[in-house]
Amino acid sequence: MENRRPHMKPRIFSGMQPTGALHIGNYLGALRNWAEIQYDYEPIFCIVDQHAITVPQDPKALRESCEQVAALYLAAGLDPKQSAVFVQSQIPAHVELAWIFTCTVPFGWLNRMTQFKAKALEADASQDSVGTGLFLYPVLMAADILLYQAKAVPVGDDQSQHMELTRNIAQRFNKLYGKTFIVPETKLPTVGARIMGLDDPTKKMSKSTDSPNHSISLLDPPGRVKKLIGRAVTDSQPAVNWAEPGAGVANLLTIFQAFSDWTDSQMQSHFAGMRYGALKSEVSEMISAKLEPIQRRYNELMDDRTHLRAVLRDSAERVAPIAAETVRRAKERTGLYSA
Ligand code: TRP
Repeated sequence: MENRRPHMKPRIFSGMQPTGALHIGNYLGALRNWAEIQYDYEPIFCIVDQHAITVPQDPKALRESCEQVAALYLAAGLDPKQSAVFVQSQIPAHVELAWIFTCTVPFGWLNRMTQFKAKALEADASQDSVGTGLFLYPVLMAADILLYQAKAVPVGDDQSQHMELTRNIAQRFNKLYGKTFIVPETKLPTVGARIMGLDDPTKKMSKSTDSPNHSISLLDPPGRVKKLIGRAVTDSQPAVNWAEPGAGVANLLTIFQAFSDWTDSQMQSHFAGMRYGALKSEVSEMISAKLEPIQRRYNELMDDRTHLRAVLRDSAERVAPIAAETVRRAKERTGLYSA
């Protein structure tokens, strides 16, 4: 596969679930980076709605959320002429390959995945209401990536166990049936800043937290940004201790620096010794100033659904032949029937 496209840029694949609003952690940690690197690769960016239904979803909200996330991908700078942007369930090959992998991957490998254990126990200790899809989640993720023979996957380090499993599945299939899949590199193209929760700066900012003061949505208006940053956890010192900032203050500085692209020395001379009240108003103003153009573009995109849907459809049509070819080979190798 690689050798047949020597003149081409390496293909990358990544995705996010269409659940809850994307927040500044998703933007600074991933989306913005995707937009920056897209021209150096052959990029495929997916909205993984089949992963979303591994836990209960409201059907109407889920469908709307797919288009919202698509609009945010584009508003954040993904260029649909360069990057394929589509929804997972537009291409049935994802689940076809996932079933083949389900039958290839040992039960014990999945049983050892820590994310399943954490999520399943959180949902229901007896596991009688935990969908089997949650257990198979990493297999579907492996199918997403291997389906397109991606060379690398720009995701955060919280996904490294899933990436390792993906590599193991590719290697196992290749060993059992002959070389079929590119084993994606573990080295990821640069991922962005790691933003922590505003209410708890020891935990990475996440979409699946109930706390209302945890994250800032990419769609939050300035008044709300101000309120949330105002409530962000700091510490008992009055002003920025540059040498040893507490975790909450360090997180606010990281957010400011990521949005502003200031150098360390600019940051230091501006913020060292600044009182927390002043720090917080500077951080919230910076956030809102940078979100404003994204929100404007998002609203334009959401107001023209015909265009948005055409982007998703065109992207899906563009990548579907790659997926179909992989599934064809995987079926042939495993002996599945097609006439
Ligand atoms: N598991 C990823 C997350 O929670 C989402 C995802 C699904 C994904 N399939 C993928 C990411 C394929 C990268 C590649 O963030």
